[in-house]
Amino acid sequence: MTSLLAGSLDAGTSPLEQLPIERLRARTSMKWRAYPADVLPLWVAEMDVPLAPPVADALHAAIDAGDTGYPAGAGYALAVRDYAALHWDWHGLDPGRTAIVPDVMMGIAETLRLVTSPGDPVVVCAPVYPPFYAFTKSAGRTVIEAPLGADGRLDLDALGNALAAARAKSGRAALLLSNPHNPTGAAHTRAELHAVAGPPPGTRPASSPTRSTPPWCSREPSSPPTSASTAPMTPSR
Ligand SMILES: Cc1ncc(COP(=O)(O)O)c(C=O)c1O
Repeated sequence: MTSLLAGSLDAGTSPLEQLPIERLRARTSMKWRAYPADVLPLWVAEMDVPLAPPVADALHAAIDAGDTGYPAGAGYALAVRDYAALHWDWHGLDPGRTAIVPDVMMGIAETLRLVTSPGDPVVVCAPVYPPFYAFTKSAGRTVIEAPLGADGRLDLDALGNALAAARAKSGRAALLLSNPHNPTGAAHTRAELHAVAGPPPGTRPASSPTRSTPPWCSREPSSPPTSASTAPMTPSR
């Protein structure tokens, strides 16, 4: 596909303008097949841009070599380790403590199973990506909502109340945090993450990523992605 695109696209054009609507409508993915042709789907989880050339090249190389077996090795974890050190100032991420998951939500569900017990509460900052509810419930956990503020950002008071309610129910409650927040797009600042996690001075919030937070999305440089953090947590202003 890269060569097809390369032959017809202007390298100077914004990636968002490179694919004409006919090319997008020819796609077979859910975004472009779930609705009738007179509907223009605007959801962003499937991007209307060509694949990044390094990604396309890696896929072409694997397919050309028939290299489509089960994944093995630590290549992905090592790449994450290096990216995290470079962009988020996370050092010493041990690939031996990582696991490959088929997608983000399955990883979250398995993490919730590890850090909480059946029936335990999981706090989510509402409104949030609806599968946060569905996967939490299918893992046998209950949801407690901490509404966002009117500005679409974390409301630390509401979060404090929700976490207190969660802790009253169980010593193994969890907070499932989307960063950037879906659907408001707010990228949590370091100050917000520290307030949520309440770490001792000089430490960083414990976290595992759902969606990465590229530095250019953050209000501040290097806001690391934080998705699932286990209680106890004490929001403090
Ligand atoms: C906050 C958040 N988490 C998880 C996901 C889904 O990730 P996956 O499709 O890899 O399960 C999305 C998708 O848009 C999302 O916005």
